Amino acid sequence: MYIGIDAGTSGIKLLLLDHDQRVIASRTEKLEAQSPHRGWSEQDPEAWWQALCRILDDLKRERPEDLKKVRGLGLSGQQHGAVLLDASNQVLRPCILWNDTRAQAECEIFEERFPEARLVTGNRAAAGFTAPKLIWVRNHEPDVFRQVRKVLLPKAWLRFKLCGEMFEDLSDASGTLWLDVRHRKWSPEALAACGLSLDAMPRLVEGSDPTCCLKTSLVTRWGMRDAVMLAGGAGDNAAAAIGLGAIQNGDSFISLGTSGVIWRTTRDFRPETSRGLHAFCHAIPDRWHQMGVTLSAASSLRWWAEVTGLSEAQLLDEVPRRITRPARPIFLPYLSGERTPHSDDLIRGSFLGVDRAVKRAEMTQSVLEGVAFSLRDAACGLGIEKGEVTRAMVVGGGSKSHIWVSIIASVMNMTLSCLKDGDYGGAFGAARLARLAVGDGGITDICTKPDVAHQYVSDPALRQLYDEKFALYQQSYPLLRKWAEMEHHLTK
Ligand code: XUL
Repeated sequence: MYIGIDAGTSGIKLLLLDHDQRVIASRTEKLEAQSPHRGWSEQDPEAWWQALCRILDDLKRERPEDLKKVRGLGLSGQQHGAVLLDASNQVLRPCILWNDTRAQAECEIFEERFPEARLVTGNRAAAGFTAPKLIWVRNHEPDVFRQVRKVLLPKAWLRFKLCGEMFEDLSDASGTLWLDVRHRKWSPEALAACGLSLDAMPRLVEGSDPTCCLKTSLVTRWGMRDAVMLAGGAGDNAAAAIGLGAIQNGDSFISLGTSGVIWRTTRDFRPETSRGLHAFCHAIPDRWHQMGVTLSAASSLRWWAEVTGLSEAQLLDEVPRRITRPARPIFLPYLSGERTPHSDDLIRGSFLGVDRAVKRAEMTQSVLEGVAFSLRDAACGLGIEKGEVTRAMVVGGGSKSHIWVSIIASVMNMTLSCLKDGDYGGAFGAARLARLAVGDGGITDICTKPDVAHQYVSDPALRQLYDEKFALYQQSYPLLRKWAEMEHHLTK
């Protein structure tokens, strides 16, 4: 039996996986993020720990026999967050999360101090990443910064609570901007640009490597029979890739969650920073990946549901079963800024081209299309335009909507596969990494691809119309940017 834990922003999820890769039990404890100022997003690490303990204490009561058989534990987690520890390993302040935008100015400072940053880290500095956050703390909370001895990502801190040792896996470490991603090692120059040194970093491991064993006190508390080995684990997207078997060069998937992700596994390090793509290590050795992130995917439809007072399902029901022409309005889903390709925390969304004849159903269709355009925009440097990536799996809450996936297939000119019902998120991938870490099988045997339930192909006529609309979508950005700058200036 293997435990997979995903320490997500909205909750901690844990699942138990048996030797046949069946999910035996799954539990989630919800979490909230705090926003003490506009653009800030923080969580108290202690809340993650308490949530995880509640889940495992409950499982101990409800499924003691299953917990007894656990041999390995894998962690996946929200990326980029900064947990700051002092000399006695106490948390110094709330964790600054991946969706916190306070460190915009610090991105420029980081790139000025470390001109090779993009080449070495494979990424353009964005406020969500860890390095600019530390420059912000140094500039705005110098007393806190002076006490910082270690900086851990969220799941590495949970590992520390579970086993008392500090490790970071390479996929998650890639999201700090302190990693030399090609050589899979910390970059002292990147750390120095933030006033830090290698001493502040945990030891690096591959996601599928063993790290350390669960503390004896916890083994006793949760009633495990043997020592439980913790795997290196992975950032949430790399863990999802492990769960989907996206381990070979070119394997791709789209995640239609709160944010949207387009992922491509690569056999080497392929930075593409001019298009704002991320180039990260994968959670297994000798593999990397490229990734484009659009910040408001399923959350755009959720927002539109809140505005209209209907549920997402009711809104989707109003959209025609078969789309033959694009909606008249264009929706730009920059509800909380945009990551790829713009790395722009200021930009805000819009409906353009609304006229009197437009009804709610057409507005909903434009929301679905706007998210599809944002994914295509995020995917431009991945080789989609050149026909290098023609197929992808689709996961996440939004993938349940047939109409949405078929729109994305035509917008992106790709064949998209929706999967048979199952749990393919970070926790599942983390449990697979736990199994690899204890040596119960090889990567290709364990990281298999799930069964496909349905395939969606691009409709050539619609695709052409969407090409025209996409050109308008891309041209709208500079206009909205100007507007956002003016609005920012007025509300300062
Ligand atoms: C990836 C990213 C998000 C967070 C959310 O770069 O920012 O996927 O990891 O959990």
